[in-house]
Amino acid sequence: MRPLAPFLLFIITIMPFFSCDPGRDGQRYAHLDRRARIRLMQYRAEGKKLYMKYCSNCHQADGTGLARLYPPLKNSDYLLNHPDSVICGIRHGHKGEMIVNGITFNQEMPPIPQITDLEIAEIATYVFTEFADSVMIISQHDVQEIMKKCRKTH
Ligand code: HEC
Repeated sequence: MRPLAPFLLFIITIMPFFSCDPGRDGQRYAHLDRRARIRLMQYRAEGKKLYMKYCSNCHQADGTGLARLYPPLKNSDYLLNHPDSVICGIRHGHKGEMIVNGITFNQEMPPIPQITDLEIAEIATYVFTEFADSVMIISQHDVQEIMKKCRKTH
């Protein structure tokens, strides 16, 4: 019976990697190490709550937007091509003409001046992983760096 012990130990050690995060997310983030995956899940969970509070009124819970009034975030070429402007826009809002997937929008997106860098990071992580197939965390530090440059690009 002796050889069984190391084998059992091995199974117990690797079990969490297979038993955690079942379903779609588990498969999608399987390449990340355990800590990174847990952190990503936390950012996504917080980001989703904030998205529902601050963004879903206009962009809709499923990110598909509303006709020609509010552009979609889901599969949006703007989101993929202008990540910095998207992050700045969460705090500073958007004004003027904007073309999303070939459709011109020209409505004002209101600023949220009181929103913190961490909250922006959580919303951005949620939006990019949920609607643009990214598998990365946008950290609070990333947001700090991007926010410094907002005025020039905005
Ligand atoms: C009052 C409605 C409204 C709210 C609330 C709102 N937006 Fe917007 N959003 C807009 C409009 C309108 C535009 C287009 C702006 C323009 O025409 O210049 C836009 C543009 C965008 C874009 C760039 C275009 C695209 O579709 O990829 C992103 C990304 C975005 N919003 C994300 C968010 C996020 C994240 C939140 C929540 C923090 C949010 N918006 C809250 C109305 C809104």
